[in-house]
Amino acid sequence: MKNIDQIIKTLTLDEKVSLLSGFNSWYTNKIEKKNIPSIKMSDGPNGVRGDSNSGKSSACFPCAISIGSTWDLSLIKDIGIALGEEAQAKDVDVLLGPTINIHRHPLGGRHFESFSEDPFLTGKIATNYVQGVQSKNVAACLKHFVGNDTEYERHSISSNIDAQTLREIYLLPFEMGIKEGNAKVVMSAYNKLNNIFCSSHQDLLIKILKEEWGFDGYVVSDWGAALETIENANGGLDLEMPGPSNVWGKALIDAVRISEVSEKLIDDKVKRILTVAEFSNRFQKPEIKAEQAIDQPKHRLLLRKAAADGMVLLKNEGSLPLKKNIKKLAVIGPNALEAQIIGGGSASLRPHYQIHPLEAVQERLGHEAEILYSKGCHTHKYLPKINEELMEEKDGFLVEYFDGNQFDKNLILEEHLTGSKFWVFEGFAKDVLSNEKRPNISVKFSCKYKPDISGLHEFEIFGIGKCRLLIDGNELIDNWTSMDPGEAFFTFGSASKKGVINLQKGETYKIEVQYNFEGNFPAVYIGCQTPDEVDIFQEALETASNADEVILIVGTNSDWETEGNDRADFNLPANQNKLIEAILEANQNTIVVINTGSPIHMPWEKKAKAIIQTWFAGQEFGNALVDILSGEVNPSGKLPTSFPVKIEDTPAYKHYPGKDLQMNYEEKLLVGHRWYEANSIKPLFCFGHGLSYTSFNYKNLEVATGSDFVVTCKFEIQNTGDISGLEIAQCYVGPASPIPGEPCKTLQGFIKEEIGAHELKKVEIKLGPRNFSFWSVETNAWQIREGSYQILIGSSSENILLQANINLEQALEVR
Ligand code: BGC
Repeated sequence: MKNIDQIIKTLTLDEKVSLLSGFNSWYTNKIEKKNIPSIKMSDGPNGVRGDSNSGKSSACFPCAISIGSTWDLSLIKDIGIALGEEAQAKDVDVLLGPTINIHRHPLGGRHFESFSEDPFLTGKIATNYVQGVQSKNVAACLKHFVGNDTEYERHSISSNIDAQTLREIYLLPFEMGIKEGNAKVVMSAYNKLNNIFCSSHQDLLIKILKEEWGFDGYVVSDWGAALETIENANGGLDLEMPGPSNVWGKALIDAVRISEVSEKLIDDKVKRILTVAEFSNRFQKPEIKAEQAIDQPKHRLLLRKAAADGMVLLKNEGSLPLKKNIKKLAVIGPNALEAQIIGGGSASLRPHYQIHPLEAVQERLGHEAEILYSKGCHTHKYLPKINEELMEEKDGFLVEYFDGNQFDKNLILEEHLTGSKFWVFEGFAKDVLSNEKRPNISVKFSCKYKPDISGLHEFEIFGIGKCRLLIDGNELIDNWTSMDPGEAFFTFGSASKKGVINLQKGETYKIEVQYNFEGNFPAVYIGCQTPDEVDIFQEALETASNADEVILIVGTNSDWETEGNDRADFNLPANQNKLIEAILEANQNTIVVINTGSPIHMPWEKKAKAIIQTWFAGQEFGNALVDILSGEVNPSGKLPTSFPVKIEDTPAYKHYPGKDLQMNYEEKLLVGHRWYEANSIKPLFCFGHGLSYTSFNYKNLEVATGSDFVVTCKFEIQNTGDISGLEIAQCYVGPASPIPGEPCKTLQGFIKEEIGAHELKKVEIKLGPRNFSFWSVETNAWQIREGSYQILIGSSSENILLQANINLEQALEVR
């Protein structure tokens, strides 16, 4: 154990302040002569990306909403452990996750990245995730504290939340993650809370987090969220990221010298940072090791199980599991050949590998049935990547980096890169950036391209900085002389520009993209849509008609669902609703598989016999999907978020994202299922809903009230089918006479149990005082009201199967 107080005594003010700002994007500063090491941080919640410079691949976990759908706390702890091991392979001290903001609105761009609409479920998951990660001495970071529930103007919007709602909905998962999970790091959000920047919010960071909850780790700013020298320091922020310092450094030293910030406060910040370094054993291993990509078989198995257990069978009128005697099985849809395994933004990473649905179906079911395929429609937001197989350079674009403004002078590096989105997160310019001086760099992408079809080819480019595209030396797109602001690359990119040209099959064309960047976040996008040989919509209908059974895989991608932008539309992108309707018409035996990270509009739902929600299920997506389709795995996932019939039904619809940068949380406590119940609005699929290939009966609820408000609920679950399965039983609590403006019932407990065919299992859910309490703004404390409460046990928030009433005879303040 280091004596951190002793170390701090040996540091000068300048040294202490240097520890409070990053060294670069992912590392803190070190002080070698005082044996103080640097701390390494890495995104993110869906895997451990590393520092973006090594280009090493990582295990790609199912996204948070998928993990949330498992409701399986022991699995989630194992996921945390695996993330901890991945962090060790990249020598990371702090994993920048989990994201535990609440699903307030289905169009929120980072919806996929959070677990649930429910604060209790989110808090339980966060706790187990954190415990798993931290069991490997890797610190977990709860983010984004707090109210970061839209991507719209996220750097300046104010989330205006009343005190009771804040405590009961938005703070609760953080409180649980700190008190029960003992998370070592918290990230302050970009936005303001009630018009004070979260990174400067004394009540939030000092009074509640540090003093009331006893948080002893550090608060790090979201990347670029530290904007105020004195307010941030006195408001409770401990570490400004990324480095080098923006508002601290010399300005903070000056503020201490003129007593605007106390040195004692600086010492407290240093102590918190060094406590985390101590936790991750960084003092013992100050040299940061090279990153490794370790694709472990045990992680593959875990991620496959997690992906399958996170899939939710929304509807099944007998089509699933697939019958054994299918002769022709069609796999159709824009997400079949290439599914979306992860959402966009800082959660994304370079996966070790990815298994897509079509290949998994071919591999696992192809020996029994003939597998047909058709794409059906294009759904890209930005044009697809240029097909590398049609380039003379088989390993992608030749990318040349020049020091200065010219594209033929001072070559400093060249490499080959594939893809369409070139940015730091995917290794672009990594060797240039690892050079500490931040140069003015010109980059030339070039290739010799031989089309395999004649006709109009559409190209698209945009970036952070200027870019232009030339074909055989002639400029086709100018996104250089004038640029409009766009929404890509966290809204830092220019708006897309496109150009169309007639290219002939068999000819060779030189494609060149010139790009210039100044600063440290280079990013450029290059896409091309080639003409289709046939009408792919029509082809899909014919394929569907020719098949015995259709698996129709629709969805979004990481451009539609990403950090940086909210979704503009509740509908699936492009003409997918039309495609689904037409395929359902062409073949009744169609299973609709939805590959999104959030709820979508399903105007065709009544016509579909079977619907599976897969989310972004990580590297094992395809295998997990076939596990569910074939019945090798009995589905057990349940929705952690309500699916509304239409967007107008949703709780925040009328005031999202607000006006004049004021986002008022007017639905207050009625978030998610609480809203639908209180307003008698029927959702399409309710919170907690999910089917199995077997069925369960609930009986014999016994509720015993012990001392200290401990209530034990015992009941039996009977598997009434012929196969074993896992059931998630949910326990809701509500006052017998609902209080206006408060929810009728809230989730306060759940269990997930494996129950054999025809087996009867006795289960138990224990409730404590906090499960009956509310946040009183009068006493500024958790309180229990005396009176009668309903205990409601069910298989979903709507399907309540057992019920009992208890009487709490005295009011109580809960500490
Ligand atoms: C995101 C954080 C992330 C950070 C570092 C920010 O844009 O909001 O969630 O951890 O970047 O990549």
